[in-house]
Amino acid sequence: MEKGVFVTGSNTGVGKTVIAGAIAAAIKAHGLDVGVMKPVASGAKEIDGSLVSEDVVYLKKIIDSTDDDDLVSPIRLKPPIAPTIAAVKSGVTIDIDKVWKAYEVLSNRHDFVVVEGIGGLMVPVDDTLFVADLVRKMDLPLVIVGSDYLGTINHTLLTVEYAKSRNIRIKGIIINMLKGDDGFVREIEKYSSVPILGTIPFKENVSVENCVYGDIVEDLRREINISKIMRK
Ligand SMILES: Nc1ncnc2c1ncn2[C@@H]1O[C@H](COP(=O)(O)OP(=O)(O)OP(=O)(O)O)[C@@H](O)[C@H]1O
Ligand SMILES: [Mg+2]
Repeated sequence: MEKGVFVTGSNTGVGKTVIAGAIAAAIKAHGLDVGVMKPVASGAKEIDGSLVSEDVVYLKKIIDSTDDDDLVSPIRLKPPIAPTIAAVKSGVTIDIDKVWKAYEVLSNRHDFVVVEGIGGLMVPVDDTLFVADLVRKMDLPLVIVGSDYLGTINHTLLTVEYAKSRNIRIKGIIINMLKGDDGFVREIEKYSSVPILGTIPFKENVSVENCVYGDIVEDLRREINISKIMRK
């Protein structure tokens, strides 16, 4: 069995948190002890003196995680922008060692860890590392989330090609927030040599901001063969 999965996206805002949360909950429903992680989170809000990320709140809630926020998201930044720019703006240095240490604790503690990426694979996380380097170091396979927007074919195929060029294993692609015609999904399938794991429709009752997930876990379990993500 895999020890986890890294959920990246073709872009920011495509539904990495929603899909990562649903994958984590679906694997938990299989009886596994699951952990979640968002190594670097920007756009965190200051509440009672500590920085709270809505992605972290959502991911923890969907699996009832009791892990400390400093493990789930060891680097939280206030400005809602790319991490390296957010760090400069808020006068902090990104200490990537915190990410490695937290990941080690979580992967020893849990059977399976679902890690949500930051933006896409080529987002810099410090002066020397891209998100893709986190994936390599964690030695996890990828699930690539794309969604229904103009430009998604290009972004998704570029993500696949870059992952391949970095020798990152790809479990497959999930297309989220499908609104109607799935012609673009067939195009992605035609030109990428990785499987489309499934599609998830746009759901009125899903909101990361309000921490509500409606029946997204049931949808994911129906649409996606979760054992393809769990099995090596
Ligand atoms: N299947 C869905 N149906 C309806 N709304 C969705 C769905 N998936 C995601 N959303 C909404 O779309 C927005 C973006 O989703 P999400 O936060 O999961 O994206 P993300 O890729 O994690 O973004 P970020 O790069 O900021 O981490 C959120 O408001 C979320 O509630
Ligand atoms: Mg997110």
